[in-house]
Amino acid sequence: MVFPTTRLRRLRKTAALRNMVRETVLTVNDLIMPIFVTHGTNIKEEISSMPGVYHFSLDRLDEEINEIVQVGIQAIVLFGVPASKDAVGSSAFDTNGIVQQATRQIKAAHPELLVIADTCLCQYTDHGHCGMIHVHEVNGCEIGEIDNDESLEYLVRTAVSQAEAGADIIAPSNMMDGFVHAIRAGLDEAGYSDVPIMSYSVKYASAFYGPFRDAAHSAPQFGDRKTYQMDPANVREAVREAEEDVLEGADMLMVKPAMAYMDVIRVIKDQFDLPLVAYNVSGEYSMVKAASKLGWIDERAIVTELLLGLKRAGTDMIITYHAKDAARWLSDRS
Ligand code: PBG
Repeated sequence: MVFPTTRLRRLRKTAALRNMVRETVLTVNDLIMPIFVTHGTNIKEEISSMPGVYHFSLDRLDEEINEIVQVGIQAIVLFGVPASKDAVGSSAFDTNGIVQQATRQIKAAHPELLVIADTCLCQYTDHGHCGMIHVHEVNGCEIGEIDNDESLEYLVRTAVSQAEAGADIIAPSNMMDGFVHAIRAGLDEAGYSDVPIMSYSVKYASAFYGPFRDAAHSAPQFGDRKTYQMDPANVREAVREAEEDVLEGADMLMVKPAMAYMDVIRVIKDQFDLPLVAYNVSGEYSMVKAASKLGWIDERAIVTELLLGLKRAGTDMIITYHAKDAARWLSDRS
């Protein structure tokens, strides 16, 4: 590059020129909105650490869904907050579980809206882990261990019941080994071979899930998730996780969280041809909301830049609590 022949500022001179040479665009098609559903009546309760995000009972859910459809969002991901919990998380695979009911209700009113079901057990188990626990005694201490292969059976039942209720996409977030294979086989056997799996392939054991765990009442009652979720230090392992999922039949891959893992997004994008999702998680949302509330940052500008950054890093879709706002901003050209 030889100055003064090359002057990169030439192409930045006007808005029209900048529009023409822009390399990355964010559209409403890229956005997926998470929704929390709960039992009871007349509930629209704001999650205190996530301003603008609510728990909805089924009788108040339509207001939210109508708004989402109106702003042009085409997909939502459902999280259930159940009435009761037990050791195996049976409310996760109950035909009348909260996610199953919400799915039927939403699909009846809006058949074209894609309902993605998060397939996990931690909101539904009394111990708050994403799988089945066995307690062993080691040197006089009781240690709870997660039984990978037994957990798969319950996850399969959950996924099948979600597909039965009409979920368009199954999104397993439990990080057990072999979950994609098990769920694919279970769905196929139950007659849902056309239901895709959006795998939370690369999910880190992250402090950024804090506000979600408050919101979903899903914090582990003992220990942490480090024996199944990934170490934030690792990226080669992320490739192995994704590779496994591809071989097991995943239709889409995910990296979660998003902002502190943009390098991982890029690596996965470069190595695999599957559509890639980033989950812009609760803690990332809360930080932006808190700083905006204090007047320290410009929320619209910050969120727009963050989401664009995630697309530039290589994501095709973004699950984000900012989805509704972002969709509105995208249609407002001011
Ligand atoms: C369930 C699940 C979690 C999130 C999505 N699905 C929490 C966790 O693994 O503890 C986090 C989402 C967020 O923080 O926004 N396994």
